[in-house]
Amino acid sequence: MTVRDQTLPPVVTPASRLDPYPLYRLLRDRSPVHWDEETRSWYVSRRDDTVELLRDPRLGAHTYPDWVHSLPLPERRDVVPVEDHLARWPVFSDRPAQQLLRRRLQPALSRTAVAPMGDAIREVTRSLARGLGEGAADLLTGFARPAATWTLSRLLGSSPDEDGPRLVRWSDALVRYLGSTGVDVRLAGAARVAVEELTGHVVSRMLNDPVTPVAQALARALDEEETVELDDVVAMVAQLVTGGVEPTATATCVMALRHAQSQELPAPGTDRGAGAAWADPEVWADAQVEEALRFDPPFHFAPREVKADFDYRGHPFVTGQRVVLILASAGHDTTGGEAMSRCPVTGAAGATAVSDSAGRPPVASAEQAAGHLAFGRGRHYCLGASLARLHLRMAWSALAEARVLERVDAAAVERIPDFGMTSFRTCPLRPA
Ligand code: HEM
Repeated sequence: MTVRDQTLPPVVTPASRLDPYPLYRLLRDRSPVHWDEETRSWYVSRRDDTVELLRDPRLGAHTYPDWVHSLPLPERRDVVPVEDHLARWPVFSDRPAQQLLRRRLQPALSRTAVAPMGDAIREVTRSLARGLGEGAADLLTGFARPAATWTLSRLLGSSPDEDGPRLVRWSDALVRYLGSTGVDVRLAGAARVAVEELTGHVVSRMLNDPVTPVAQALARALDEEETVELDDVVAMVAQLVTGGVEPTATATCVMALRHAQSQELPAPGTDRGAGAAWADPEVWADAQVEEALRFDPPFHFAPREVKADFDYRGHPFVTGQRVVLILASAGHDTTGGEAMSRCPVTGAAGATAVSDSAGRPPVASAEQAAGHLAFGRGRHYCLGASLARLHLRMAWSALAEARVLERVDAAAVERIPDFGMTSFRTCPLRPA
């Protein structure tokens, strides 16, 4: 039986908001299944436990908050429709309609299905990278966000210029509501309007004339599946947009930042020094992508709720309690052996190597190389993982070709102190 470590600080502090990795290490070492009184949640930080619990049917998505129906009228008018909408997001729901929609969409988002988008993404990322010019610029707003918005709009069959910014505005309103504590009437009102406008967009632009495989899969599911309603499709689109744009933009910045900070490290799988091999856009693009996702993934947590009482490693998990599976801790976990902190990656020459922040040599086998959990695992595994990887690979190559990477001003990069996420306020570039 593991004893709870009462001597650890609360998990949410100003320091852990800015850099939670020392906290994750402390939890892995001292209290791998940890109860935090302030947030009234369990935190699971070791990789093996996280993998096991991501697949455990006794943990499920968050239950709909029935208390919203007893709010006073003005709040209720805005909050109830927004909560109804969020309850249909695939990541917040284990209901059959969401699982069905997920299965319908998977073929349209597989690696082979998204591969044909590669050439167009390459062209756009190259053009955006060139557009950064030679003066001071911001990688986040000048490249990473517009590039991710473009790819997402293209996936949905929306116009990147006309619809892209609106899709992002609607998703931002929902994310801001989700991130608020208590009931904020202003944010709830903005989120309700966003749901209404997004519904109009999905009906008139995507379902009326579905031009891409994703839009076609959504339209067919709505036509053919009795349990799938329009609101389920709208919720899926909302999740594709929120899932698609900001985390991809964040990972782009992490790649660039990681490159700026790794100039002294050997390239993965070699004992050759420094940036030249690491930065070779054609050889190590995949390695850069996986290393960024391992080292500092955009979403740190997979939050779950206990659906039936059970004991986990001597700890009583009680129905209704929140369990936070720390995905971001997995890529740094060395408790199961050194290989835990490494990702297998394949270079263009077909050579398999392993990325590692310390530049250690490759591990012996794929089984040993456990891999990161940046896209989750199991029932809610990221539907956009293949697209995100394709996009990030193209973004990396475009930035390397335009010689933008060496201009990242690592010391001036500003993070947003969000507990549970990596996100940036700015990622400045020095003049060439
Ligand atoms: C670097 C970029 C991305 C990262 C790190 C990421 C990460 C994740 C993670 C960790 C989850 C699972 C959360 C959980 O289990 O609680 C998830 C789910 C999801 N992601 Fe992504 N994502 C990325 C990009 C994308 C893109 C590009 C799309 C779509 C265009 C997308 C769509 C989704 C959807 C729809 C889900 C919900 C799946 C479900 O619950 O069934 N994501 N993502």
